[in-house]
Amino acid sequence: MNIAIVGSGYVGLVTGICLSSIGHTVICVDNDEEKIRVLKKGGIPIYEPGLEELMIQQVKKKKLFFSSSIKEASSKSDVIFIAVGTPSKPNGDADLTYVENVAREIALSMTSYKLIVEKSTVPAETGKRIERTIILNLPRKLKNKVTFDVASNPEFLREGSAIKDFMNPDRLVFGVESKKAEKILCEIYKPLKAHIVVTDTNSAEMIKHASNSFLATKISFMNSVSQICDRVGADVLKVAEGMGLDKRIGRSFLNAGIGYGGSCFPKDVDAFIRLSEKSGYDFALLREVRRINEDQRASFLKIIEDKLWIIKNKTIGVLGLAFKANTDDMRNAPSIDIIKALQHEGAKIKAYDPKAMENAKQVFENVTFCADAYSVAKGSDCLLLLTEWAEFKDLDFKRIARLMKQSIVFDGRNLYKDHNLRDLGFEYFGIGRGNLSGK
Ligand code: UGA
Repeated sequence: MNIAIVGSGYVGLVTGICLSSIGHTVICVDNDEEKIRVLKKGGIPIYEPGLEELMIQQVKKKKLFFSSSIKEASSKSDVIFIAVGTPSKPNGDADLTYVENVAREIALSMTSYKLIVEKSTVPAETGKRIERTIILNLPRKLKNKVTFDVASNPEFLREGSAIKDFMNPDRLVFGVESKKAEKILCEIYKPLKAHIVVTDTNSAEMIKHASNSFLATKISFMNSVSQICDRVGADVLKVAEGMGLDKRIGRSFLNAGIGYGGSCFPKDVDAFIRLSEKSGYDFALLREVRRINEDQRASFLKIIEDKLWIIKNKTIGVLGLAFKANTDDMRNAPSIDIIKALQHEGAKIKAYDPKAMENAKQVFENVTFCADAYSVAKGSDCLLLLTEWAEFKDLDFKRIARLMKQSIVFDGRNLYKDHNLRDLGFEYFGIGRGNLSGK
């Protein structure tokens, strides 16, 4: 099939490259001409394991193209995915300006039947609004001549494992209003042999919001449990193991830490709270989920302040800056709040991240960026583990202890749960491991 993907950000690029790799001819579109120029030259603006190689392979096969013109892409395609950004407004609403602009442009360049598919995370009823925008903007001569459908096909890809998630989805959701749209979507995803849920567009949009909000709720629940574990001397990791073996609960997304970040959960929880408010329902549970998430960072800082005593002029070494491992994405990374709060107290920050340092340089001032974890450790009064990169697991802690001024480790991800750092002479503080119980 011939497919256009409008919006070559994270979601759009991954979707476009993966759809081309399962047999379709795809044009990825973006109004950022510089980005398109880089893509055409074989460069890729994001880090996602395996994506660059796959992109180069598909371009070589002439199955993947890039363009800055919606008109050109739309005229060559039967299906147009909308994957533009939907940032948060100050009041938490999703800002759908880009979605509306794209719908208008599609209308202006439509000459034959098109299936328009929302891929961006959008509030319920956006599909209906896209349809209305297209009808209102269709050139007069085309009115009643061209037909189209709008569908919702939310994405559930995780950064860092997006290709694997695309190829082996737990489910695909098709929100459609016609049999024709359902048939086309089934055809597109046929090679994946996935479990498919077919529903109306409103319900598909709700599935996406409810899924992300539920996962965020699981994390906040476990972060609250970790607070009690810290106080009563229980181990949150054992609690998660014991709970997670119950098939009704499941072990995933029960990792307590320094709170969820990224471009999705914080924004989507906000948007779902707003959507509920507007519909006349106060989703108080989700407001708590958000508050617990913010508190989790504050409580991590409190432990650091308690154990370091004086923060001013202390050198604090930070391992990991990205919002999670295997990505260079700094959006809403917990490291931002934590580092800025410590700098505010007068700490000197040294930091290293395997992939996110270029992006981090746009976010932080007065941070000394180091070449590796050992340079971070050198002369530091403590180490903070903020992102669970695999390479941080295998550090030589005897060497680290020799390099540091004081051997203290604050582990925001419980990465060193089995490292027996205390036996190596470190003061070690994980999350929910009995920190405040005198253990
Ligand atoms: C999330 C969803 O998992 C995807 O299904 C969805 O498609 C995507 O948002 C989106 O809406 O585009 P992502 O933000 O890439 O994916 O990352 P996650 O792996 O879900 O992690 C989100 C945050 O939660 C990270 O900061 C992570 O460190 C944190 N987390 C995750 C925890 O603190 N504990 C856990 O147990 C799991």
